[in-house]
Amino acid sequence: MERTLVLLKPDCLQRRLMGRVVARFEDKGLNVAAMKMMRITPELAKRHYAEHVNKAWYPQLEAFITGGPVVAMLVEGPEAICVVRAMAGATNGLKAEPGTIRGDFSCSQQMNLVHASDGPDSARREIALFFADAEIPLE
Ligand code: CDP
Ligand code: MG
Repeated sequence: MERTLVLLKPDCLQRRLMGRVVARFEDKGLNVAAMKMMRITPELAKRHYAEHVNKAWYPQLEAFITGGPVVAMLVEGPEAICVVRAMAGATNGLKAEPGTIRGDFSCSQQMNLVHASDGPDSARREIALFFADAEIPLE
């Protein structure tokens, strides 16, 4: 079993797509083990996207990700990290394969509906950023 962090980004909520996106993970057989709606502060955005803070496009990313509520989810299942990344699709919605979340719902490089941890280290780090120990079921 693996655990990964999924964020439903502000565009997903604004477009009222969260039910359809969560349903995809459930249909796949993954388990939503924890979930909350919240606002990401600029401080949390900088920690979450630490690898991108110095990129030219980071200020626009921060404005987007802090611009409305998100839903943070702890998703678990066999090889969940890889499976959820594959279900999300390529970063840019224009390049993402049809059948993926981004491929089916996004035409944008930034507003691509979901975040998904990209490996075991980032999954651990990101889950700890978004969830307190007491909010996470024991493994
Ligand atoms: O989310 P993913 O790991 O697929 O992509 P990333 O390269 O780690 O970038 C993180 C997020 O920054 C993306 O999901 C986009 O929302 C955003 N982004 C952006 O606003 N402009 C770019 N040129 C690249 C990414
Ligand atoms: Mg990434």
